[in-house]
Amino acid sequence: MKRYEKFADDIAELIRTGVLAPGQKVPSVRHASRTYGVSASTVFQAYYLLESRGLIMARARSGYFVCEHVRRPLPEPQATLREASTTEVDVSELVFSVLSSIRDPDTVPFGSAFPSPELFPLPRLARSMAHAVRDMDPRSTVADMTPGNHALRRQIALRYMVGGLPLPIEELVICNGALEALNLCLQVVTRPGDLVAIEAPAFYASLQVLERLKLKAVEIPVHPREGIDLEVLEDRLERLPIKACWFMSNFQNPLGASLPEERKRRLATLLARHQVPLIEDDVYAELYFGQHAPKPVKAFDSEGLVMHCSSFSKSLAPGYRVGWVAGGRYAGQIERLKLMTSLSASVPAQAAIADYLQHGGYDRHLRKLRYALESQRNAMLAAVARHFPEETRVSRPEGGYFLWVEFPEQVDSLRLFQLALAQGISIAPGPIFSATRRFGHCARLNYGHPWSLASEQAMETLGRIIRSLPGTN
Ligand SMILES: Cc1ncc(COP(=O)(O)O)c(C=O)c1O
Repeated sequence: MKRYEKFADDIAELIRTGVLAPGQKVPSVRHASRTYGVSASTVFQAYYLLESRGLIMARARSGYFVCEHVRRPLPEPQATLREASTTEVDVSELVFSVLSSIRDPDTVPFGSAFPSPELFPLPRLARSMAHAVRDMDPRSTVADMTPGNHALRRQIALRYMVGGLPLPIEELVICNGALEALNLCLQVVTRPGDLVAIEAPAFYASLQVLERLKLKAVEIPVHPREGIDLEVLEDRLERLPIKACWFMSNFQNPLGASLPEERKRRLATLLARHQVPLIEDDVYAELYFGQHAPKPVKAFDSEGLVMHCSSFSKSLAPGYRVGWVAGGRYAGQIERLKLMTSLSASVPAQAAIADYLQHGGYDRHLRKLRYALESQRNAMLAAVARHFPEETRVSRPEGGYFLWVEFPEQVDSLRLFQLALAQGISIAPGPIFSATRRFGHCARLNYGHPWSLASEQAMETLGRIIRSLPGTN
């Protein structure tokens, strides 16, 4: 961490704990420089940073002040309902119609599932691609087929090891993105008609996979900070013949929730007791804002029941379609199914990422990416507080790039979606995240794009549209 970043964090902490109150002047540059023993330019850089994070603002000829919105930290969304039901899934039409309408590149992309491509080291990756392809052994087109490029799998295994989870390279199967890995895992452990425990709200693609495989969903509520409700899950596992769970334990899409470590451990124990496999979707694991990488549930699994799926799509190389699964006791079956389904992931793309991981400075890039995303999160939270109605609730994720916003009950987020789109702004409306079309007054907003005047104006417009809807003011 650079000096000014450390200093900015210290000031942010003073703001968070209320030592520096909203509206209060922050120490002048000269005063701060003298008191804290840092140079004036370090103080300036730190204040610019805090300004871009929406925590302080400059007033002409008066210095910097703590923003007023910090006074009104919006409440977090309410935990979702505890209903015991199993349900057929039928959301694809709605999901496709929403997704197809937000592809226009001129739309403000709050509804997007991706972070901005500007945040990725694409030129450096291109060099890795050129290098890897130039030096490629012709035999590698066969050798690097499933389970995948050995150098890449070794780099991935190394990252697991550094994260405190040593695993044999044989467990790793390279796939066409995490989504293929997740699909294969679910196919290995279920048959049509089986029950699968999923989150409510859940990533819409998981609902579509259940629908395609004719599986039934058992919805488990997710707490906005602490992740899935283990008490409800335990009850369902005791009463229903659940064949698999599909959960995100870190920065859940869409809520942003993460299971604390103790609850990850409890989840692993619970699954072991019932011998139910977990398909763990951990695509945002690298996008944490804290000091340490969060562990996956797999780190607490001693029975090989957890299939841990991830990819480089959200952290390094969107479009390369390189993901993987650490398949535990199911790795062999997943490998065979992968061979039968699509033979192999792209060999040049695997080689390029292997080269980048070895020589490209991945960790340096990740530090910058996390920092950008955290700043953008703060800017969007500040804009929500500034422009949305008082009763709005919003998540405060510690990683990833989505906010989950709960509007007043009477707001119809599908209607809001249409009205916003007509103004060139996309959002992801709540019902696409539910097997039972719930969350009609919620939406997911993407802060994965550099904050700009256009973003701020789009938030203002959204606020205006929400207030114009029947029943709001
Ligand atoms: C929660 C979640 N899981 C999985 C995926 C799919 O990842 P990939 O692009 O690597 O297939 C996405 C992509 O949007 C996602 O948001």
